[in-house]
Amino acid sequence: MFITFEGGEGAGKSTQARALAQALRARGRKVTTTREPGGTPEGEALRALLLGPGSRWGAMEEALLLFAARRVHVERVIRPALARGEVVVCDRFTDSTRAYQGHAGDLGPEAVEALDRLVLQGFGPDLTFVLDLPVEAAFARIHGGNGDRFEGRALAFHEALRRGYRAVAASFPERCALVNAAQDPDALAAEILTLALKRLGPARGG
Ligand code: TMP
Repeated sequence: MFITFEGGEGAGKSTQARALAQALRARGRKVTTTREPGGTPEGEALRALLLGPGSRWGAMEEALLLFAARRVHVERVIRPALARGEVVVCDRFTDSTRAYQGHAGDLGPEAVEALDRLVLQGFGPDLTFVLDLPVEAAFARIHGGNGDRFEGRALAFHEALRRGYRAVAASFPERCALVNAAQDPDALAAEILTLALKRLGPARGG
């Protein structure tokens, strides 16, 4: 099963992704954890390129680069792990492109869907946790920024991002669980684990 975590900055998705992976391993599951941009040397190089200081890509160029790295990530890391029967937990995937470049950026949702169809040909997560957090709360959690150009963006962008993620969750209701990221992290982790276990069903061998 392919599980992804999504949300704006400060929502705590990396912490929750790690917590879920740990909890599943404790229950005897084999889990591969990975992230986007990243997950392969190509993806990590792209991460540096996209998030590095002074980079000025437009939303279309960002999406093209992200899908190029995503294709490599799927073919070399995600599909092989799934074929070995593992659970794959990925911090961000195509829904990030939908929300950041499609909704909050100026690319528009249709272009992202076109790229998704062309590049991934129907491949995608089985279950996605969309961590929803009011923008003011997210800002309070981000300590002053770290020079990363995404985190430095204006409040309006983060508002658009949140609306984008909520629209994504509404568009894919079977796959997406919109969860309240303002709650206590342990309580949220417990909610996420319950939902994941329900989807996963009983572990092989009991
Ligand atoms: P993070 O993984 O530390 O949250 O940061 C990755 C940044 O990259 C984040 O600001 C969102 C951005 N991003 C996109 O804009 N589009 C994408 O498709 C992905 C995967 C990430």
